[in-house]
Amino acid sequence: MNTEGLLAQRIVNIKSSAIRELLKHSKMEQVISLAGGIPSDALFDFEGLSIATQQAISEQPKSAFQYGLTEGSPLLRERICALCQQRGVFAQPDDVLITAGSQQALDLVMRALVNPGDLFVVERPTYLAALQTLELAEANILSVGSDSDGMRVDELEQLLKTHKIKGVYVVPNFGNPSGLTLSLERREQLVKLAVEHNFLIIEDDPYGELRFSDERHTTLYQVSQQLFGHCENIIYTSSFSKILAPGLRLGWAILPPFLLQKVAIIKQAADLHASALSQSIVECYLGLDRLPAQIEKIRAVYRQKCQILADLLQQQLGDVISFDMPKGGMFLWVRFRQPFNATEWLQETLKQGVVFVPGEYFFAEQPDRSTFRLSFATASEAQMQEAVARLRRAL
Ligand SMILES: Cc1ncc(COP(=O)(O)O)c(C=O)c1O
Repeated sequence: MNTEGLLAQRIVNIKSSAIRELLKHSKMEQVISLAGGIPSDALFDFEGLSIATQQAISEQPKSAFQYGLTEGSPLLRERICALCQQRGVFAQPDDVLITAGSQQALDLVMRALVNPGDLFVVERPTYLAALQTLELAEANILSVGSDSDGMRVDELEQLLKTHKIKGVYVVPNFGNPSGLTLSLERREQLVKLAVEHNFLIIEDDPYGELRFSDERHTTLYQVSQQLFGHCENIIYTSSFSKILAPGLRLGWAILPPFLLQKVAIIKQAADLHASALSQSIVECYLGLDRLPAQIEKIRAVYRQKCQILADLLQQQLGDVISFDMPKGGMFLWVRFRQPFNATEWLQETLKQGVVFVPGEYFFAEQPDRSTFRLSFATASEAQMQEAVARLRRAL
């Protein structure tokens, strides 16, 4: 069969996620993986999930197994609003769209916003699968750098002098892959720019609850409310994946009214609605009031694991690498002090039996090949010790 010309142009040059390919190696015996972006299943609340699942099946079987509303279960939308309030996101249930993970929220929103060639700005580095949604929507992707205070909003301001942009995608809390947190001053600057230049901000916040200190960072949504009395420029997305279980595939978006209706139409075309069973389970789980304790547990363990990995790196590789200590989340973003190709180095570390994600995949442009991402979420202390020793040997 001659397949030439059969595929849509928008998919021809899109590569499969480098991380998915890498995960194949991580499944090999003897290989220690610091590559995956997955949460630790040792921390899943199986007991609570089991009680919630039983409840969903026995107490509300019809809603758990029947078609539901595209926007999502009304009770779950209410419970998500209550959760969001604690984060300073004061939305109404009607503002919430429940999605199949926040990944779907990103995809649907990009499809609703982006005409081919529209300019969208991301951080360098940024979340790889957000880049994929932008590429599929045929956006023209521009990027601005980041430093210890997160996205360089001053660079964005410069860029806006010559470009009219449709939106900015940003992970303000403990970014993937950077681990960085956007400072309050920059949050305010960013929101001001959005209002002044009439663009949208996608505030992707799957990690905000996984903070290592008690300090909560003000959401862009809240900053907008405080500064302007509205949140029309902000799309807030989040997920149950990192605080409960990713296999449920449940996330959500809080959208301005003009957008929610359109995004819901695209969702209808995509999958009608998020899994009714997953929604019932999470609805019941939230009713059990176990989530706060669950989040506390995850925070404590990740904080400790992050410190262990950071100490090991400092002791054994501190002469050749540097990193910013994350204030939460699941990732340590590492940079070689001298120019060094981490992608090529991966072949050597694989021989030693350790895998990470080379940094270059997280850049829309101007890749910094001297960088790489390590996850501390799943490896045990012994595995981290062995992994860092192997990294040292692979140098
Ligand atoms: C920054 C960011 N956004 C969104 C997602 C998507 O997560 P999910 O679809 O499981 O909610 C991830 C997953 O790793 C992520 O790191």
